[in-house]
Amino acid sequence: MKFLITFLFVSFYLISEAQNTQKPLVESSKGMVVSTHPVASAVGLEILKKGGNAIDAAVAVNFALAVCHPSAGNIGGGGFLVYRDAKGQNFALDYREKAPLKGHRDMYLDEKGNIIPGKSFVGIFSAGVPGTVAGMVEMHSKFGKLTWAELVAPAIDLAKNGLDLTEKEARGLNRNKADFIKENPGKSYLIKSDTNTWKTGEKLIQTDLAESLIRISEKKLKGFYAGKTADLIVSEMKRQGGIISKKDLKKYRAVWRQPIVQSYKGYEVIGMPPPSSGGVALAQLLQMVEKYPLAKWGPSSDSTIQVMIEAERRVFADRAKWLGDPDFVKVPLKELVDPAYLSDRMKTMSFDRATPSKEVAAGDFPAYESPETTHYSIVDADGNAVSITTTLNNSYGSKVFVGGAGFLLNDEMDDFSAKAGAPNLYGLIGTKANEIQPQKRMLSSMTPTIITENNQLKMVLGTPGGSTIITSVFQVALNVLEMKMNMQQAVEFPRFHHQWLPEQTRFEPKRFSEDQLFRLKSKGYEFGPTAGIGLVEGILILPSGKRQGGADSRGDDTVSAY
Ligand code: GLY
Repeated sequence: MKFLITFLFVSFYLISEAQNTQKPLVESSKGMVVSTHPVASAVGLEILKKGGNAIDAAVAVNFALAVCHPSAGNIGGGGFLVYRDAKGQNFALDYREKAPLKGHRDMYLDEKGNIIPGKSFVGIFSAGVPGTVAGMVEMHSKFGKLTWAELVAPAIDLAKNGLDLTEKEARGLNRNKADFIKENPGKSYLIKSDTNTWKTGEKLIQTDLAESLIRISEKKLKGFYAGKTADLIVSEMKRQGGIISKKDLKKYRAVWRQPIVQSYKGYEVIGMPPPSSGGVALAQLLQMVEKYPLAKWGPSSDSTIQVMIEAERRVFADRAKWLGDPDFVKVPLKELVDPAYLSDRMKTMSFDRATPSKEVAAGDFPAYESPETTHYSIVDADGNAVSITTTLNNSYGSKVFVGGAGFLLNDEMDDFSAKAGAPNLYGLIGTKANEIQPQKRMLSSMTPTIITENNQLKMVLGTPGGSTIITSVFQVALNVLEMKMNMQQAVEFPRFHHQWLPEQTRFEPKRFSEDQLFRLKSKGYEFGPTAGIGLVEGILILPSGKRQGGADSRGDDTVSAY
């Protein structure tokens, strides 16, 4: 695969041993792409070296991820872009999925008003109207330099001619085989016969996806939201009783929004506003911990961990109550990030005992979301910076492939609260702010983030991980800004997560000492299971102007740079 070969020869240099990280620290002087797949990162780098800017590379990486990382890379899902151009202007693009026109508040309830298990997160009924292609077209038409066709071409090539499966990708496809068979009656796309499994290094060829990408390449929006691709989506809906219509597809538009900008000790933190909760939550978290001497305490001290957990507990309580799609509900943004309010919230924090979550707020519960999403960070030679998080929601979304079109539909409808006051499968008890309405966008935790210092680009970061997205970005940002770790150390450092409810804190297994967990337990902290906490992709700009990459060693994540 030509991009992979190019990747092997890029002119970066590696510094490894001294940093004590599993993956080498990569630095470069011009452009850098960090994504969850080596081939997608290499595609982005190729575009930068061809003269494309960070947005061009982002579009190419997105389509490449849709081919090589089908569990989260997508054309059937949605996402968010936070963009800072080289002149220092900030932008936020919302291409989150929307509830279909036929969607309604009670669509996942039975006649008794109980939630129908699974309906909101597996199968065709769980899909929101996809936004990704509209997002790509919109960001390219506003900022792109290279032609659209040049940016889609690498993905077409990968889908048509195939790419070698990594161990992780092969495992993911095999693990989901039973669901694929169940949700795709009569289809064999990406499904191995009974006795067969996908093997590491095996070539994955996606002919139908290549054809969809060719239509997108030739007709942009109309290659997805109209014509043959739209026909195929709607046929799949009819076959399986889904509700996304031609009208839904025709009406979909990506929306430019005002980024959330928050200062933290002289840094400026630029984040995604609602319908993501990420930017608001990160702004709240940073302000809540600002007055504590975290750097003096160090990243692993009980005090640092306690302060961060207690801030997280309070922020997730707000998230559950106040956040939703700003086109449908009034979100009290100013109030939520008001310094006096946040300082007041932390007054009940004590180093002697955990604050029970029921004392922070009662009656509402926050979302616990599935961990499959993906993030990529890009900085080009001029200093344009892209931070994109995109998702199908669950791993492989709804598990439904659009027949003849070769791509998966999201199950993003599960990010709505299916019923106010009742938990869904992931423990989510939502509120009115996030109830389903036709054309509304579901609340997200995605936290694509850019940080500046003295008006100069400092850091680009983000991660997948459901509700742990917010806390992982928070922790990695502090690892760099407070603890002075390099980017690779910062993303690899052991992580923990708290989200108000359930009461438990989730610590990465075997990465915290028994002594420390015992001490925290004796103060009332409860512990919960941890499947995975994020795959952070970060780029740090050093004072010399060099770009320093951080690719999470928890996944296939890769820095490509020149
Ligand atoms: N589906 C995960 C999120 O948007 O937060």
